[in-house]
Amino acid sequence: MKMRAAVLHEQGRARPFADSRPMTIEELDIEGPRADEVLIEMVAAGLCHSDLSTLQGHRLRRLPTVLGHEGGGIVREVGPGVGEIKVGDHVVLGPVLACGECRDCLTGHPALCTASQAAKSHGTMLDGTSRLSWDGREIFHTSGVSCFAEYSVASRFSLVVIDPDLPLAESALFGCAVMTGVGAVVNTARVPAGAAIAVVGLGGVGLSAILGGTLAGAEKIVAVDVHDEKLSLAREIGATHSFRASDENCAEAVRELTDGGVDFAFEMSGVTRGMKTAYDLLRRGGVMVTASLPSAAEEFAFNAYDLVSGEKTVRGCYMGSCVPKRDIPRFLRMYKRGRLPVEKLMSAMITLDDVNLGFDHLAEGRMARQVIGFIGG
Ligand SMILES: NC(=O)c1ccc[n+]([C@@H]2O[C@H](COP(=O)([O-])OP(=O)(O)OC[C@H]3O[C@@H](n4cnc5c(N)ncnc54)[C@H](O)[C@@H]3O)[C@@H](O)[C@H]2O)c1
Ligand SMILES: [Zn+2]
Ligand SMILES: [Zn+2]
Repeated sequence: MKMRAAVLHEQGRARPFADSRPMTIEELDIEGPRADEVLIEMVAAGLCHSDLSTLQGHRLRRLPTVLGHEGGGIVREVGPGVGEIKVGDHVVLGPVLACGECRDCLTGHPALCTASQAAKSHGTMLDGTSRLSWDGREIFHTSGVSCFAEYSVASRFSLVVIDPDLPLAESALFGCAVMTGVGAVVNTARVPAGAAIAVVGLGGVGLSAILGGTLAGAEKIVAVDVHDEKLSLAREIGATHSFRASDENCAEAVRELTDGGVDFAFEMSGVTRGMKTAYDLLRRGGVMVTASLPSAAEEFAFNAYDLVSGEKTVRGCYMGSCVPKRDIPRFLRMYKRGRLPVEKLMSAMITLDDVNLGFDHLAEGRMARQVIGFIGG
């Protein structure tokens, strides 16, 4: 079958991407689903900083590829073995490409699935092959999703069936941003009610962590970013205080406000500088949780004596330590009850043709989540 898709040709092109055009919209061939796979007609796909990092060349990918790993759509065809998933189901797609059988999957850590790592780094589906081609030439997949396209073939483990009454554009954000940000707070850190938390970096992921903080009942929720627009949005959705990261006395002011520092500092800025800021906000015994994925070449240093004498913890967080089938429906139920107002994270709906420009806007840091809209939705 033919479909329109955004094909990434080269990493590391200069900004503005609207001029250098690392992605072009092409007519690709997409094969039907094989065993354990479904074909999805995309309705919405979110722009995540992880795709921006791929555009910037911060992590190498097999090219040409189709980016996009957070989306909502409707099942149009099912392969053998997909169980209860049926044509017409509404689904949320995310980058947790899991095998369902390895030790990590069986112990409730599908995002760490070792079997899927190979497929992700080779740009293929779990069976090591691609369903995408362009004039007979192989096109690689991204995280088993590749949803900057009218259709996606995905493993049944990459998606969750949702209530058809839910809007697919907002639901799409649960595939990566919400799963990661809310999951960081409620799963990775298990923030107790009454805690003082800070969130450094207020994109789709960080703002979701602010929402997670309100859901968990944190008493103080301190928002930190370099853009004032982001600080205002964070206060609108539940941050109790906000500070500009670039202000020299930012860390000191947060420590003063929180009686010696926060219990949990969530770092979601995408840069190692943000990690340093987050670490400096911790009280003694505090925990820093970072979801940032800066360039693979970068390292993060902290004072070894302070780590030990202050009994601090630095913890990585991948996909909010979520089990998508357990957590996406649970977070969506909270959204439906108004407890996770994810619609406030949507800065703009854009078209597939404007995808390069959308990443320029994301790189400027002023947009929360932009969503590509495909069909009526
Ligand atoms: N671990 C995971 O599972 C996972 C999942 C999704 C995204 N990510 C990563 O999380 C990071 C955030 O993703 P996003 O889509 O929300 O990004 P984004 O670009 O939308 O947001 C980043 C925010 O950080 C702010 N910022 C930049 N430099 C800063 C600094 N020095 N101090 C404070 N704030 C600063 C920006 O102004 C922006 O508001 C990226 O690195 C992304 O790759 C990780
Ligand atoms: Zn993402
Ligand atoms: Zn597995």
